[in-house]
Amino acid sequence: MKVSLPKGTKDILSEEMRKYRYIENVFSEVCQNYGYGEINTPVFEYTELFQRGVGETTDVVQKEMYTFNDKGNRSLTLRPEGTAGVVRSYILNGMNSLPQPIKLFYMGKMYRYENVQKGRYREFTQIGVEAIGSLIPEIDVETISLLNTFFNKLNINDLQIRINSIGCKECRPKYNEILKDYYRNYLDDLCDDCKIRFEKNPLRLIDCKQHQCMAISKNAPYLLDNLCDECTDDFNKVKEGLDNLGIRYIVDKTIVRGLDYYTKTVFEFISENVGTQATICGGGRYDQLVEMLGGKPTPGIGFAMGVERLMMEIEARGVMLIEPKFPVLSMVTLGEAAYKFSSRIIDELRKEDIFVDIDVMGRGLKAQMKYADKMKSKYVIVLGDEEIKTNKCRIKIMESGQEKEISVDSIVNRIKENKI
Ligand code: HAM
Repeated sequence: MKVSLPKGTKDILSEEMRKYRYIENVFSEVCQNYGYGEINTPVFEYTELFQRGVGETTDVVQKEMYTFNDKGNRSLTLRPEGTAGVVRSYILNGMNSLPQPIKLFYMGKMYRYENVQKGRYREFTQIGVEAIGSLIPEIDVETISLLNTFFNKLNINDLQIRINSIGCKECRPKYNEILKDYYRNYLDDLCDDCKIRFEKNPLRLIDCKQHQCMAISKNAPYLLDNLCDECTDDFNKVKEGLDNLGIRYIVDKTIVRGLDYYTKTVFEFISENVGTQATICGGGRYDQLVEMLGGKPTPGIGFAMGVERLMMEIEARGVMLIEPKFPVLSMVTLGEAAYKFSSRIIDELRKEDIFVDIDVMGRGLKAQMKYADKMKSKYVIVLGDEEIKTNKCRIKIMESGQEKEISVDSIVNRIKENKI
């Protein structure tokens, strides 16, 4: 059998994995400082959750879901995104009876059957937040500010923040009619999907990536110009709040987002480095989602970021996230007794959280030395029966090549206290 990797997936190897962990740690720290607790929901959910939550007419639901029947003939879907699962959990765990808002962050794998290209995978990692329960625009500002703080911590200070408002259940239906009036003149020129969108979900027309439809949507009326008073007020407050915190943004009337649950504020963080997939992060309000999924009417807002895209951004900028880790000490041993003795030293140092190394390949003296050099160990100690007997050994400082004689029983303390 010849093994291969499923299309759109990738292995994340050790070096990259350390960067992922670093990103996750920074994200977790920032989220906790903004009052968020972590949540971990299942990787698969009942298909209906996404059909209803994300929306029947979205590309995600229509074309991209990994859906299968389990042995009990239940239709399950690998989660294409995190919000629907978090909201499901909010409802089922009765979180509405706790003090609001409920602020949750998550990290995990998501699955979409997409056309694979740079920055677009079929299995990818998202980190995201959801703040459920607050209706006021101050939470929108806080959510965008959290993201901004996170990027600043990674030394990424120049992403474009684009914001828009896509209205509420008051102004959206009126706008849909205005939009349909506009598109009606071009019905024959629309792609097949858009012909369906025209009937079922006109806002999606704006989001179509087919050339002929993009040309038509260019001159379509914007929702931002047709908001009701409440949505206009709220959007103004979001802008004022961002100004107040000195966060720069662009109002982009074309943002409608690809999922159906959004209302009012939507936003994206855009980079020029990720190629065609410039959106590193996207989010917005979803004031009807809790109710749509069977909960009490409760507003919410959140965002999610593709970690793979973030990594590409970091690579493109050449920002070094973390220093590589090298052993402080490699013990080179001669014979079984010396190995046993040294392994106790190594064990003690590892319990003190010090990165130390000892050969586990049965290499000879020369090969052990060579390996220690390759591993970029700071110090190397060679230990044989003689050294143990006389309680004297030599420690080599690899950078300078200098050697020093020390007593064997001082090794642990010297390494611990970094006194060579
Ligand atoms: P989304 O815009 O579909 O929103 O995805 C958010 C981010 O996930 C994107 O900006 C991108 O970085 C990453 N992403 C999406 N698809 C892929 C893919 N195929 N390969 C690699 N990265 C990808 C959501 O998922 C919403 N749940 C965000 C949200 C949370 N809104 C409110 N709360």
